[in-house]
Amino acid sequence: MYIDFFVSNAHTHISGKSLIPENDPTVLFTTAGMHPLVPYILGEHHPGGKRLVNYQKCIRTADIDEVGDPSHCTFFEMLGNWSLGDYFKEEAIRMSYEFLTSKKWLGFDRNTLSVTVFKGDELVPPDEESASIWRALGIPDQRIYFLPREDNWWGPAGKTGPCGPDTEMFIDLGKEPCSPGCRPGCYCGKYFEVWNDVFMQYMKKDDGSFEPLKNKTVDTGMGLERTITMLQGKPGVYDTELFLPIIEIIEELSGHHYGENPETDRSLRIISDHIKASCFILGDEYGIKPSNLGQGYILRRLIRRSIRHLRKLTPEGGFLDDIADTVIGMYGDIYPELKTNRETIASELNKEEERFSATLKKGEHEFEKLLPNLMKNPRKIIPGRVAFRLYDTYGFPLEITEELAQEHGLSVDKKGFEEAFQKHQELSKSGADKSFKGGLADHSDMVKRLHTATHLLHKALRLVLGDHIAQMGSNITAERLRFDFSHPGKMSPGQIAEVEKIVNEQIEKELPVSYEIMSLEDAKNDGAIALFGDKYEEKVKVYSIKGFSKEVCGGPHVENTGELGSFRITKEQSSSAGVRRIRAILLDKQEN
Ligand code: ALA
Repeated sequence: MYIDFFVSNAHTHISGKSLIPENDPTVLFTTAGMHPLVPYILGEHHPGGKRLVNYQKCIRTADIDEVGDPSHCTFFEMLGNWSLGDYFKEEAIRMSYEFLTSKKWLGFDRNTLSVTVFKGDELVPPDEESASIWRALGIPDQRIYFLPREDNWWGPAGKTGPCGPDTEMFIDLGKEPCSPGCRPGCYCGKYFEVWNDVFMQYMKKDDGSFEPLKNKTVDTGMGLERTITMLQGKPGVYDTELFLPIIEIIEELSGHHYGENPETDRSLRIISDHIKASCFILGDEYGIKPSNLGQGYILRRLIRRSIRHLRKLTPEGGFLDDIADTVIGMYGDIYPELKTNRETIASELNKEEERFSATLKKGEHEFEKLLPNLMKNPRKIIPGRVAFRLYDTYGFPLEITEELAQEHGLSVDKKGFEEAFQKHQELSKSGADKSFKGGLADHSDMVKRLHTATHLLHKALRLVLGDHIAQMGSNITAERLRFDFSHPGKMSPGQIAEVEKIVNEQIEKELPVSYEIMSLEDAKNDGAIALFGDKYEEKVKVYSIKGFSKEVCGGPHVENTGELGSFRITKEQSSSAGVRRIRAILLDKQEN
């Protein structure tokens, strides 16, 4: 209905993207529908036009420890609509209101709708405009809440970039207010957020001031799970059809029932959320495997925590793949990549279970042995080095140790754990991902240059190694590019030198870089390299580096390869089975 509604309001339905952000080092996973659209919000032209709508698979791990309560989850789907310099507050709010309250669409009782708007501060005035639009639609003043920046502002904190106030929509569940200060966002749960309309109307400048933007954009996000919970009048997301089938299969396999006891309910919720998220990560277009780094470590934590909770429900293991089958059955028609990757999902889950089961019992036993001593500690804190030993020797991610600790009224010295960790290896990006609220992706000149260099590299690899080369991942920071591609074996030093030489030749030729918009089919017929993640018949942008490469890509890029400097491959290594990884940098000509 969401897609239909916005298509009937002249939006183009675009496909969602991979859960693994491309060319963006600021987050580990796609955390909102706007994430893959950042280049367009920053001003790149979108082939679908100025009004867009989609649904996007997302993962947020900032609250991973809260999963288990009735409301948090890591994987969710976000429905979103965008105006790229087209409509602004008036039309965005009117459409949100109509979709939420019209009988033809969701049909929520308008008397249960409460909204929040930005209250203003010393830097930016209050968002009276949004408030008056809500008033004109019939929302009474007592249901319009003016809240501060921490609640109603979206955009870069600290950095520069587009940003602005948002207006959030809540369903009031009708409970008595918990206190005189009770308001949307209150922990008591009287108000249930379903939608957020963000109005990017300012540019945050270096000096911390905000300048009005010429090209204003709207970015909205409606949580599918949350909205369905409200539509079906359920107490929480886990009571909806988006979770119940998963909970049911675990009930069947373990003999425990949901609603029987708070401890097992918590385990059932953790397993169903975490295995669902794991299926989507393993089955992504850029499938990730469990590892001790970055996204792979988040995946490992999700799977291992599920295994521990499954073991609490039943001593028998070995049915993660049955749970995965249920997830694939629920979502496979909408996300066909899950079906394509069914074998990988099952085998990786089983392998991780084998790896972890071998040490889980021993680790728990070790913990039990330590317990009497730990309990004597007057501060009831488990030292960091003990938590690190459980991690290092028994493969216990920190939060498993924390959970075990909590079950005995103890806590863990996290700082000590991290110090111990750092001593043993360089601290990876394995912590919770940074919330995207922190900032937009880096679009500095260096990142743009490295992005264009990535296209040159991709094509050069095909010329040297063959057309079987397919991009398996790309990650660019202001310092270097990293490119993963399918290739069975190690590259020889001669091949590496040849690839470098080809890329540098294209830089010396000062080739112009430009793009055209066409259908994906035309792009493929035209010989453009397309990614597995590019989905159905929609208009795409094809970037050409004159006479050398053509690739489906959102941009941005430099205008001429002459701007790149000198290209150097710094490392060629294995990334996973059948996948190689190259790191490369660009040097100024004189540095070379
Ligand atoms: N990007 C906004 C959000 O995620 C809409 O809430």
